[in-house]
Amino acid sequence: MSEEKRATFGGRISAVLVAAGSAVGLGNIWRFPYLAGENGGGAFLVIYLAAVLLIGFPLMISEFSLGTATRHNAVGAFRALNRRWSVVGYMGILSSALILSFYLVVAGWTAEYMVHSVTSDLVSNTDPASYVAAFESFVGHPLKPVIYALIFAVATHLIIVLGVQRGIERASKVMMPVLLLVLLVLAVNSVLMPGGMEGLKFFLKPDFSKITAETILLAVGQAFFSLSIGLGTMITYASYFKSDTSIKQTAMQVTLLDTFVAVMAGLVIFPAVFSAGIEPGSGPSLVFITLPSIFSTLPMSGFWSTIFFLLLVLAALTSTISLHESVTAYVEEEWKLSRTKAARLTTLLTGALAVVASLSLGIWKEYTICGMTFFDSLDYLTANILLPLGAFLTCLFVGWKFDRTLFERQLYPNGIPGREYPLLRFMIRYICPIILFVIFSDNLGLI
Ligand code: TRP
Repeated sequence: MSEEKRATFGGRISAVLVAAGSAVGLGNIWRFPYLAGENGGGAFLVIYLAAVLLIGFPLMISEFSLGTATRHNAVGAFRALNRRWSVVGYMGILSSALILSFYLVVAGWTAEYMVHSVTSDLVSNTDPASYVAAFESFVGHPLKPVIYALIFAVATHLIIVLGVQRGIERASKVMMPVLLLVLLVLAVNSVLMPGGMEGLKFFLKPDFSKITAETILLAVGQAFFSLSIGLGTMITYASYFKSDTSIKQTAMQVTLLDTFVAVMAGLVIFPAVFSAGIEPGSGPSLVFITLPSIFSTLPMSGFWSTIFFLLLVLAALTSTISLHESVTAYVEEEWKLSRTKAARLTTLLTGALAVVASLSLGIWKEYTICGMTFFDSLDYLTANILLPLGAFLTCLFVGWKFDRTLFERQLYPNGIPGREYPLLRFMIRYICPIILFVIFSDNLGLI
C-alpha cells in the first residue's frame, strides 16, 4: 500500500491512546500481580521498574522509529531497511500470533467473570476457598472457557475488519480514564481492608534475598509483555502515526501510564490477598480469586464487579486488537490479500490455537511440553524467550544498523536533537543489548 493511502490515527493524543490501549491489558492486571506474588513482591517490583526504565522505554522508542521511518508492518519495516534482518520481523509476527492464542483464553475468563458479575452469583459467597474452587472448575470446563475465548476472537476480528482508524481508536478513547478511576477507588478500598497493610508491605518493601537469575528474566520479560514491545507490534502501530506525532512524548506517556496501571493493580490486589488469607504465590489464578473476594466486601458488590470486569474486558480487547493487527497487517501487505481475508486467516489460526490452549488446562492437562501445559508453554516461550530475543535483536538493529540520520529524523523532526539523545543512543547501542545478553546467557547456564 502506498504511503498516502495508508490509514493514520487522528493525531498525537490518539497515538498515545491506541499505543496505551495496546500496552495496558491483562499483562498489567492479571500477569504482573501473579508474577510479583510468586517472585518476592517488592523485589520483583523494583527489578520490573528498572527493566521498564532502562530497557523498555528505549526499546519502545526504537520500535516507534522503525514504524514511522518505513510505514510498514514489522516484516516489511525490517525488509525495507535491511533484507537480512527481516527475520526479526518474522519472529515478531509468529510471537504475536502465539501470544494472541493464550491471551484470548485469559480474555475469555474475564468475559465469563463479567457475565457472572451481572448475574451477581460471582460475589454471593465470601469464602476465598470457594473462589479457588469456582475458578478451577471454570477453566477446566471442556466447553465454557473455549466458547468465551472464541467470542473474544470474533469480537477482535470484527473490530479489525471495521478498519484501523474507526475501530481501534474509538475503543481506546473511552476506556482508559474510567479504568484509572476505578483502579484508584479499588486501591484505596484495599489498603483500608483489615490486614491490608501486610500486603502493602509485601508489595512495596523489597526483600532482595528472594531474587534469582530467573526472577530477573521474568521481570524483564514481563516489562516487555506489558509494554507490548519486542515483537514489532509498536512498529506496526507507529506506522499509522501521523507525521507530526512525537515519538519521544508518546513513548514516555505510554510507558508511564502502563507502569502506573500495573502498580495500581498491585495496590488493589496485594492488600486484599493478605486480608483474605489468599496465597500470594497462587499463580495465574491469583487475580481471579482475589478480585471476587474484594468485591464481596463492598456495598453494591455486583455493580463494582460488573464495572471492573467490563473494563478488564475492554482493556484486554484493545490489546488483542493490537496483536491481531500486527499479524493482519503483515498478511495483508506481504501476501497481498484483502484486509478481510488477512484478518480471517489470523482469526482462524489463533482461534484454533486458543481452543487447544484452553483445553490444555482441563481435559488435555496430561499432555505437557517440558513439564508445562500447552497454555503455560505458550506463555513461557513468548514472554521469556521470544520477547527478550526480539528485543535484543531490535536494539542491535536500531543501534548499529539503522541509518543514524534516519533515526534522528524520526525522533527530532525539527532537526535539533534533545539533550537526552546521547544517553538514549548509548542505552540502545550498549546498555540494553548487554543487559539482555547477560540475562539470557545466565539463564541458559552459559556464564
Ligand atoms: N501489553 C499487553 C498487555 O499487557 C499485551 C500485548 C499486546 C502484547 N500487544 C503485545 C505483548 C505485543 C507483547 C507484544 O496485556
